[in-house]
Amino acid sequence: MRKKILFLKKYLKNPQSVGSVIPSSVFLGQAIYNSIKELDQASIIEIGAGTGAITQHISSLNPLLVEIDKEFCTLLKQNYPHLDIVNSCAIEQLKKIDEKVGLVVSIPLINNPFKELFIPILNDLYSRGLLRWCVIFTYGLSNPLEQVNFETKERKRFVLKNIPPAHVWVYS
Ligand SMILES: C[S@@+](CC[C@H](N)C(=O)[O-])C[C@H]1O[C@@H](n2cnc3c(N)ncnc32)[C@H](O)[C@@H]1O
Repeated sequence: MRKKILFLKKYLKNPQSVGSVIPSSVFLGQAIYNSIKELDQASIIEIGAGTGAITQHISSLNPLLVEIDKEFCTLLKQNYPHLDIVNSCAIEQLKKIDEKVGLVVSIPLINNPFKELFIPILNDLYSRGLLRWCVIFTYGLSNPLEQVNFETKERKRFVLKNIPPAHVWVYS
C-alpha cells in the first residue's frame, strides 16, 4: 500500500514522467519476464524502475536499474540490495553503454519530450550492435518505437489485468 500511495503522489506531481496512477500489475510484470525469456541473453538495463513492480519479476536476471526519482531509488535500494541502481536520467546511462544490452523500458513516451532524445540514442546503439533487444509496454495502440530501425518489431502480448490495460512490444 505504501508503494501505491508514493506512486500516486509522484504521479500527481509529475504525470508526464510517471505516466500512470498505479504501479504495473503482477500480470504485466510476468508478461515482461516471459517476453525477455524468449530473447537472446544479454546484460539487462531496466529504465524507469519506479517502485519495482516490473523489477520484482526480473530481479533474478540481475538488471541494472535506472530511475530518475530519488525517493523511488531509495525504495529500490531497500528492496533490491543485490542490484546495481542508478539515480539518473536514463539518457545519461544509455550514453555510457559499451557492451551488448537488452533494454526494459517503462518510461512513458506519449507526449514526453524525453522521446526526442531517446529515439536517436536507440538508433545509434542498435546500429553499433550494442542494443540487442528492447521490451516496452504501452497503454496506447500505436507502435511506441516506430522510429527506431529495429529489424523485428512485434506487439507480443496484451495484458488486460493492468490499470490501464497494456500492450507489450518486443524489438530485436
Ligand atoms: C510508468 S512508471 C513505471 C514504473 C514501474 N516500472 C512500473 O511498471 O510500475 C515510469 C517510471 O519512469 C521514471 N522515469 C521517467 N522519466 C525517466 C527518465 N528520464 N529516466 C529514468 N527514469 C524515468 C518515473 O520516475 C517512473 O518511475
